[in-house]
Amino acid sequence: MLRAMLLEHCSWPDVERYLELNNGVLIPIGSTEQHGPTGLIGTDAICAQAIAEAAGDALDVMVAPPIPVALAEHHMAFTGSMTLRKETLVAVIEDYTQSLFRHGFRRFYFINGHGGNIAVLNETLKGFSANSTGPDAATYTFVNWWAGPRTKKLRDEWYGDSEGGHATPSEIAVTQFVRPAAMKPVQRLGPAPKSQGFSSAEDFRSKYPDGRIGSDPSLATPEAGRALVASAVADITEHYRDFAR
Ligand code: NI
Repeated sequence: MLRAMLLEHCSWPDVERYLELNNGVLIPIGSTEQHGPTGLIGTDAICAQAIAEAAGDALDVMVAPPIPVALAEHHMAFTGSMTLRKETLVAVIEDYTQSLFRHGFRRFYFINGHGGNIAVLNETLKGFSANSTGPDAATYTFVNWWAGPRTKKLRDEWYGDSEGGHATPSEIAVTQFVRPAAMKPVQRLGPAPKSQGFSSAEDFRSKYPDGRIGSDPSLATPEAGRALVASAVADITEHYRDFAR
């Protein structure tokens, strides 16, 4: 996963040479929030970053520095979670992409690791695309790494209802594969409450006391994580080629 072209590992002449051939960039966006009693707080950011690096490698497309903290207000009753305000996140997305636009990047492809970012990515990137017109226009889109057809099929087959909605075995598996040294010992956890909505951070914690929503992360394995990264890369490369054509 280290062969990807990471912007932070380039010199400025490297980036100039890249832009003579390609104006695409992958931008990982995650979240820094509780993932149940055993999952890493960085799960969403770690998954997005790892999959973006592997996809960048497969596509020969530059990978920008990640946005590791995003919208997680609903997780703030769990210690260690961090959140941006929505307006902060919109400003960060705009400043990241506009910095890169000034150098000549025109295809902005976000790889998202967090369900709570979907609405703001959708709204913000559609707005950017609509406002970018003329011969120098840029295009913007995002993909949820877990939602492509190959990846969804694996998740359904392996975990079914135990996938749940938060601290899912599939995302925990990816972190086991990518960050084995950081993982906590696997614990058998009792059944997690099913999704029933929430109205605030405190309400989230009272409805989902250990932070999981309907999931059984003890089903995760690093081998499954490896396969999920590969399936996500296959889904994303197909989608990206269509986007960038
Ligand atoms: Ni997550």
